[in-house]
Amino acid sequence: MRKPVIAGNWKLNKTINEAEGLARQLVDKLHHVTRTEIIIAPVFTALPAVARILAGSPLQLAAQNCYPQETGAFTGEISPLLLKDAGCKAIILGHSERRQLLAESDELINRKVHTTLASGLTAILCLGETLEERNSGAMFEVLTRQLKVGLAKLTPAQMTQVIIAYEPVWAIGTGKTASTDQAQEVHSFIRGLVMGLFNQATADNCRILYGGSVKPDNIDALMAEDDIDGALVGGASLKANDFCRIVEYQA
Ligand code: PGA
Repeated sequence: MRKPVIAGNWKLNKTINEAEGLARQLVDKLHHVTRTEIIIAPVFTALPAVARILAGSPLQLAAQNCYPQETGAFTGEISPLLLKDAGCKAIILGHSERRQLLAESDELINRKVHTTLASGLTAILCLGETLEERNSGAMFEVLTRQLKVGLAKLTPAQMTQVIIAYEPVWAIGTGKTASTDQAQEVHSFIRGLVMGLFNQATADNCRILYGGSVKPDNIDALMAEDDIDGALVGGASLKANDFCRIVEYQA
């Protein structure tokens, strides 16, 4: 069966000191958890310090972005190889904030997925529709394109290192969560797409997380849905108590 994943996306928040403080609290409160994979993604500058705190705990470190080359003349960029060196096990890719604010294309995101997997890290591929796309009936087409291009030229074996995060853009940081029915509908659609692109076993084993205003008071209902295998949590991952309650959701 699919092991649930709860991932905290800290976005552009917290100094090194603050990140260390939060990481210490999480390790303290969550060191006993085995049911769920726990991932946290601080800013780049805090990665090595947080890696030292997570060492020996079940919490895994992730980065929020990377460049699709390992080394070279790419001023200002960071590669999966160097993120692995800093202690990361995973990288969040294609987050809607990057797609919107930095115009990241599906093709660029696909290159990042390949480089990430080649470095032996897990890729957390984000996709999701805007409110306009949902209301105009383009949602399934948009999700299909994001998934198909984002996962282009991957093998079923590589897919074991990929986690998908469905994050409706209209639900991110807005306090509006997709209803459990809306989320389940899209998760099941995405699983069907993965089956079509790869095979049944790949679809059955693929973890699909929901993201968008996940909070202690909505996680239980979301996790009760068949095709929701975890959550990518933004705002609520910055508060130790909230994030711990989300990790310890009531099944
Ligand atoms: P949110 O962010 O939980 O603050 O809505 C989720 C995300 O962007 O990953």
